Amino acid sequence: MLQLTVNGRAVAIDVEPEMPLLWALRDHLKLSGTKYGCGISVCGSCTVLIDGEPVRSCVLPVSDAVGRNVVTIEGLARDGMHRVQKAWIEHQVPQCGYCQTGMMMAAVALLAKHPQPTDVQIDAAMTNLCRCGTYARVRTAIHALAKQPVGKTAGHV
Ligand code: FES
Repeated sequence: MLQLTVNGRAVAIDVEPEMPLLWALRDHLKLSGTKYGCGISVCGSCTVLIDGEPVRSCVLPVSDAVGRNVVTIEGLARDGMHRVQKAWIEHQVPQCGYCQTGMMMAAVALLAKHPQPTDVQIDAAMTNLCRCGTYARVRTAIHALAKQPVGKTAGHV
């Protein structure tokens, strides 16, 4: 049994320690908001936060997450309306939407580190791939967030 903390909740799962965290989240904890894209740490669809840092969960053994704080898209806010999620809606960022949970997790981490990021900082942090090419709208939403006062959210970040 591996003991994890996911979205503020202590959970125990009976999986092989080398299983990628992504599959532990999706298949065992039924947190399907984190997506599988490439499986080789390139696309970023599987991005979650571990101790506040964006991590590609498709290549991280679940055992590496033991004792650390894992946050998935489901944990950003209890009502699904974290300020980044709101900005993504307001600026109509998603197109097909598949990669966008990973995009939002990367944006949450970026804004925690750089509340008013420059374009260079956005480019450096937002390495997620989007086949629909939503990059300009991602940048617009992040800049809009940078102008907002940061309030407390109901979630875990
Ligand atoms: Fe993990 Fe693409 S699925 S980086």
